[in-house]
This record gives sequence, structure tokens and C-alpha cells, in this order.
Amino acid sequence: MSKDPYSLASEAAAALSGAAGLDTFDVALVMGSGWVPAADALGETVSEIPFTELPGFSAPAVAGHGGKIRVVRTPAGRHVLVFLGRTHLYEGLGVDAVVHGVRTAAAAGVRTLVLTNAAGGLRPETQSVGDPVLISDHINLTGVNPITGTTFIDLTEVYSRRLRALVREIDPSLAEGVYVAFRGPTYETPAEIRMLRTLGGDMIGMSTVLEAIAAREANLDVLGVSLVTNPAAGLAGEPLNHEEVLEVGRATAARMGILLAKVVDRL
Ligand code: HPA
Repeated sequence: MSKDPYSLASEAAAALSGAAGLDTFDVALVMGSGWVPAADALGETVSEIPFTELPGFSAPAVAGHGGKIRVVRTPAGRHVLVFLGRTHLYEGLGVDAVVHGVRTAAAAGVRTLVLTNAAGGLRPETQSVGDPVLISDHINLTGVNPITGTTFIDLTEVYSRRLRALVREIDPSLAEGVYVAFRGPTYETPAEIRMLRTLGGDMIGMSTVLEAIAAREANLDVLGVSLVTNPAAGLAGEPLNHEEVLEVGRATAARMGILLAKVVDRL
């Protein structure tokens, strides 16, 4: 991206508002792999805009990651930007491309961002495959940051305490955990997973942290939810594969959809 990424996001937001016929939006929701089947539960689809029609977006490289923004009106009348797919750092398009959706949502007037992802569980003692876990904090081991320069953003509470409490009112059984991000696209080695357990991580994945940082720069309230799709490498004695990640999403779509629909209407 040669253009200043914030101007490009403003252009994309203007194009999005024009395509959707709406001046502003209330919430943005990024559906990670495994979460896309849950999107249908959110409400009525007002319009769908392929990423390729908006400045600065690229089509997702990964099967199962969608590739469009769906504008949804919830039963309570909120307008939600549902990102069906995201750009990952491992695609090699750079960090600005990874956070372009978040910056576009912020420029389009969104104040609250819900980030979902599929993750390996680092605590099989207490986590089961198919469990949603609220992200309480993160460890960014991607080696990059979406912000360049002397903008010193406070990250004491990246994932809003207030929003987490609100979700636990809806589902008190939800656990919280620390999400660790690696660049990928390889899954981790068992030695890396032992390290991450020692460091205090609870889930491991390849997304979310850069988007959450960009969202805090834009002063959005962030809610993060991981879907545990597998025990992390070496913890179950089986190799990992992407199809398994997608399958868990399909199997839990109804539960995740109902949860997200309730959450969005109470934000
Ligand atoms: N590691 C990294 N990313 C993932 C995993 C994992 O075990 N599962 C789903 N996304």
C-alpha cells in the first residue's frame, strides 16, 4: 500500500457507506475461520459488498475465510458490519493490510468492535474443543505492530472489561483467557506450545492482536472471543489441520451465532 493507510481507510468507509446506503454503523464484527457459519444468526442481511469492490481490501487467501462485508440489521435495529473473512499477516501483504478492515470500520463510525477467531487451546485441562473463550488480554508475538511512529497507545485494557462482563451476564459459563498470536502460517511446535503455557497464554492463533491494537488506536471498545478448535500442538498427540478448525466452526455455528446475536444487541 503506497497511500497513507488512514486515508485509504476513509476512502473505503465512504465507498462502504455508499454501497450500503447508510451513513453510519453501530458495531463491526470480524468473523474468524470457524465463525463464518455463525453469521446467519445475527439478523437480516441489508447488503453484501465483496472486499474486492472497496479500496485497499484484497480477497482472502484462505478457504473458509469468506471475502465480503455483510451489512446486517439486528432485531433491535442496530446496523452491524460483519466481516466475512480477514487478512492475515502470513499472507505477506503487510501489517496495514491486516488492520485495514478495522480502520475502515472506525472511519465508518463504528464505536465497538467484536473480534472472533479460531484458536488452539493451551489449557486442555480446563478447555474443551468447541468452547468459546473471552479474550482478557493478549501477547503479541507476531514481531510487528500496526502503529509506526511516536503514538504511544495505552494497552492496559485492550479487551474491554465492561464488554466482557456484559457477555458473562448472557453466558456465565464462559471462561476468559490470554490469547497469544504468532505470525503463522505454520502451526506451532510442541516446544513453542510449552513455552507459551509457561508465559501465561491460554489460546494460540494467528490473528486478532494487530486488529485489536489498531482498534485501540482508533479508540474503539474491543470484545474478543476465541473458539477453541483443537488442543495446541503436542497436547493431544495428533497433527493439526485447517479442515478440523473449519469443522469445529460448522459444528458450533448455532451456539456461536446465538451468543453473538445476543451480545450485539446488548452492546
Ligand atoms: N495454532 C494456531 N492457530 C490456530 C490453531 C492453533 O493450534 N488452531 C486454530 N488456529
